[in-house]
Parts: sequence; structure tokens; C-alpha cells
Amino acid sequence: MEKIILTGDRPTGKLHLGHYVGSLRRRVELQNSGRFDKIFVMIADAQALTDNADNPEKVRQNIIEVALDYLSAGLDPGRTVIFIQSQVPELCELAFYYMNLVTVQRLQRNPTVKAEIQLRGFSENSTESEDEGEEKGEKGEKGEKQEQQRRGIPVGFFTYPISQASDITAFRATTVPVGEDQEPMIEQTREIVHKFNAVYGPTLVEPEILLPDNAACLRLPGTDGKAKMSKSLGNCIYLSDTAAEVKKKVMGMFTDPDHLRVEDPGKVEGNTVFTYLDAFSRPEHFEKFLPDYPSLEALKDHYRRGGLGDVKVKKFLINVLNDTLEPIRERRRHYEQHIEEVYAMLQRGSERARQEAAQTLKDVRRAMRIDYFEDRELIAAQAEMYKNKQ
Ligand code: TRP
Repeated sequence: MEKIILTGDRPTGKLHLGHYVGSLRRRVELQNSGRFDKIFVMIADAQALTDNADNPEKVRQNIIEVALDYLSAGLDPGRTVIFIQSQVPELCELAFYYMNLVTVQRLQRNPTVKAEIQLRGFSENSTESEDEGEEKGEKGEKGEKQEQQRRGIPVGFFTYPISQASDITAFRATTVPVGEDQEPMIEQTREIVHKFNAVYGPTLVEPEILLPDNAACLRLPGTDGKAKMSKSLGNCIYLSDTAAEVKKKVMGMFTDPDHLRVEDPGKVEGNTVFTYLDAFSRPEHFEKFLPDYPSLEALKDHYRRGGLGDVKVKKFLINVLNDTLEPIRERRRHYEQHIEEVYAMLQRGSERARQEAAQTLKDVRRAMRIDYFEDRELIAAQAEMYKNKQ
């Protein structure tokens, strides 16, 4: 069987270091490994619209940001098909058929959907009619939140795990490299594949999730030490940040609040600076920037013992991050001067993706017995039957 990757991101903002260690870096490695027959990376604009229906401009402006982040991180359009979800309408048709195989109750149990309903402030028991939701409440973040609460949960948002199953199965993906929060989506996809194949005969390919192997990469905290990087919390370091921005953000980073003086023993666990070093530092960084320490373990031991100040560790992290980001910045500078070509690349990728999805849709239609015009036998048998009736 062919080995195929599909993965993607919602274009609701620039990509940050959490995206990078959680999935993007891995994708580039997999691309360069040559172990995969096909690789598809999707800008999930249609999914982004499921909770941004009233803000299409945000999604529209962020397509190019995400595309630039992909190319700068090292995705190569010669080896990876980069495309835009909404430009592959076959995905909608697949989702429409899969909807018959999933219950409302199953969607309600999806932990990621549950968490996002909370996060977005959607109300599960809204009784307001849609018309009432239309009139604008007070402006600003809070007003927006109240408005959503009154409007309840959009059906498109509620069913996006089904649409994600279409994204994955349309490309017959065997491998989906994503962050931990996407686990319930892959599980849901596998269930849909089982159900579809059981009802209509073996047609769809069951995907496997590929999670980061390092705990720090699985869930990179924000610079404030909070569980996750998130634009609304203002705790992100972006792939497109300058060296000066990275420096400023790292200098303000959360460390061990009890490590007050240099000579105090410090805690490494839960210390954001060390979590970032777990995710980013490589042996050559020590040789290059901190030759007094042979390894991260040695640095951690010194910090635990006491006598190692936060500033020294932070300076090292700044060097590590900027060393990692510099080649990315350089590629970005190049692509920023070639925006038209980036769009042309996205268009070619979307056309290519469409061909692929159309083939799967054809198989699905045949399996579901809704391929009437292709089914000569059906037409002949019915013609015969009605002829004999007279
Ligand atoms: N849900 C993913 C995110 O929030 C984006 C996405 C959409 C995706 N469809 C996908 C990821 C299919 C992997 C596979 O970023």
C-alpha cells in the first residue's frame, strides 16, 4: 500500500513555535526522508470558517501567512502538495455522505469539540433564535463572546470532525502528523472509515496519527508558562518573529518563581525556559554557544544545584531559537518578494489535490451505489424489466 501523508492548519493567524515543534518540523523531516509516496499539506480555510463565519477577511488574509510559514519552514512544493481546502469541493460532498454514519451523541462526546465549545463561549442550551443573534451586541471581545453565546453552536462547527475525516480519507492518507489536540479527530476518522467499509464494502483507508515523540514538543507552553501558545493570550513566539522580538519574549519568559538568587537551587520541571530547551536544543548548540556544558542534562543539573542564573540560561535559549529560526527567516524574506508565485503554487497544488479527491469520490459513489450513469448494468436491467412488463 502507498504511504501517504495528509495534514494541515487553520489559517487564523501566523504559525508559532508550538505549531513548529508540534507538527511542522516533523512534516519537513518526513518530506525529506523520502519514505512517503505522496504528501499533502492543506490550509484548512473551510474549517477556519466554521467558527469565523462572520470574519472571512481574517481567514482570507491569513492564507498567505500560513503558506509563507510552510515554505519558510522547508516544505518544498516539488515534493509536497500544498493546497487550500475550499478549492477542493469534493471534500464537502464526502462530508455530506459521512454525516449519515455519525451520531449527534458521538460528536458531543468528542473532547476537542467540547473544549472548543467552552473556549469559544458557544452555549449548548441556547434558546435564542438566529434572528435575535443577528443584532450586534456591545463591541469588543466580550460583546463578541456574548453574541456567540446567544447564537448557540453553529452546525458547521459542530460537525467539523466529519469534515476533517473527509480531508484525511479523500487523499487515502495512511499517516497524519498532528499535535495531541487532534487525537480525537483521527479517532473519529477511523470510526467513520470502519463504518463506511462495513456498510458499503472496503473502500476507505484507515489513517494512523503520528504524534511528536518528545513530551516538550507534544505541548509546548506559552512564554508565560500557560499550557498552550495562543494568540489571544499573547504568549506566542512566531516563526516570523525577528531576532529582537525573540530576545524580548525570551527575556520575559516564565521560569521558576522560587529561584530568586543565582545561588538558590532551581526547578527545571515546569520551568518554561527548560521546556523550550527540551524542544529545541541540539548537541551542536552547546558546542557553539555554551561550550562549558557538555549537554542539556549538565545544564539542568547545575540549575538544580544552584549557582546558575536565569539570564544565562535565557541567553542560551535565545541563541538556540535564533539559530533555528534564521534559515526560516531567510527563506521567508525570499518568498515575501515572490507572492504571486506563492499563489500560483497554491493554485497548482489545489488542482492536483482536486484530482486526487475526485478519484476517491468516484470510489465512494460506486461503493454507495449512487453512480447511476456509470452503471450500465443497472440501466440495462431496468430497461429489460420494464420492457417485459408490457
Ligand atoms: N484541525 C486542524 C487544526 O486545528 C486542521 C485540520 C483540518 C487538519 N483538517 C485536517 C489537520 C486534516 C490534519 C488533518 O489545525
